[in-house]
Amino acid sequence: MSVQKERTDDFLRGLGANERAILERIPWRFLRKLAARAVRAKMRAQFTGWLQYLLPLVVIVPLTLIGAIAQLLDAGWLARPLVGMAGLIFAVAAFDLVTVKFKLRVPEHHPSRNDDLDLFDMMRVRRSCRSFQTRRMSAADRVELMESVRVHVQEPTIGPTPVRLEYIAASLTVWPTVNATEFLVAIVPKEYNRTSVIDVGRCLQKVVMDATRMGLGTCWIGPGADHASILQHLGDRFDPDQEQIICVCAVGYKSSYIPLFLRVFNAQFKRRLPLSELVFADSTFEHPADVTVDPFTQFGRTFEICQWAPSSYNGQTTRCVVTSSGDEVPRVDFYTTTSSQYYAPVALGIWSANWGMGCEALGIDGEFMILTPPHVPNTLPRYDLSWVPNQRG
Ligand SMILES: Cc1cc2nc3c(=O)[nH]c(=O)nc-3n(C[C@H](O)[C@H](O)[C@H](O)COP(=O)(O)O)c2cc1C
Repeated sequence: MSVQKERTDDFLRGLGANERAILERIPWRFLRKLAARAVRAKMRAQFTGWLQYLLPLVVIVPLTLIGAIAQLLDAGWLARPLVGMAGLIFAVAAFDLVTVKFKLRVPEHHPSRNDDLDLFDMMRVRRSCRSFQTRRMSAADRVELMESVRVHVQEPTIGPTPVRLEYIAASLTVWPTVNATEFLVAIVPKEYNRTSVIDVGRCLQKVVMDATRMGLGTCWIGPGADHASILQHLGDRFDPDQEQIICVCAVGYKSSYIPLFLRVFNAQFKRRLPLSELVFADSTFEHPADVTVDPFTQFGRTFEICQWAPSSYNGQTTRCVVTSSGDEVPRVDFYTTTSSQYYAPVALGIWSANWGMGCEALGIDGEFMILTPPHVPNTLPRYDLSWVPNQRG
């Protein structure tokens, strides 16, 4: 970019790299400036917790305008349904505003626990919860959750240091989750170590599954979390010179009051790639593994629960290579498909946690380790981790 352009585009300062890259492609300066203003307004609305309620206007306003124009042109047959639809969406948005933003609502029931589900069904009922009840966790639930944290942070890690999970009871600034007031913050040493980031996924996913068993709603939040607000609430429990925050996880009771925008948002993430695009027979990633035949059938629904693992904005960045030797599966390798340094390794950690929990539920003993020689730069998918069965004795 020329010095001149950099100077004249001062109004782009302070925006994220992605936003800047998009705005810089706009050819006219006045349009760039207008778009930058719109982005800033969006960010303000996002981090003051209003955007979720304002977004229906994006539909309501054009529908009303087109309806009004149709009415002026004597096309009442078109105007009535359009204005009717705009009115309906407005009514729903107003209801959301009152019940979710202003919290004027009928108290909700304590959700029931999922103790009766087996691990595989429980993993399938877990979905990201983006609207929480207004009440905090009961003391008993908090004690049980923190016990899960205590147990899982002590488990062996792939990386050199344990993961730290800190509990915060405060309304952190997060997007687009609403009414979350309790969080676990995943903290690792400041010096970047990919295996520590993988460990965050491995460790926190086990806590998430314990929370799911307790009937709690959870939502991993990485890019949607405002770090300044997390730092403010962590206070002296966090040392910025020595540590970094990888992500947070909102925890609490799921609410049935879900704003219209969030219903649409959640629906985007309901799908998963088929196993034939996630699990491969070799590291060229050209041949899908047929996991319905022996020896892979011994893993039952373990592939399925990996397929349904959460990932940042449902990016589904983890791939798996399974090899067989007669009746044995000597190793299962986990790869990431993007060069992301944070959220892809976290997602891989979550996959591996699900794999480990699935194997454990089936009584298959194994260990995670890094086997292949160091990664060749710029080669994707990138190898990260293997699971190797223990010799049966
Ligand atoms: C590392 C990580 C970061 C995430 N960050 C966010 C986030 O910032 N905001 C959000 O609403 N959801 C976030 N999610 C949740 C994903 O969007 C969600 O897991 C995915 O869309 C799949 O949907 P499901 O969890 O309902 O199965 C994150 C998930 C992971 C694993």
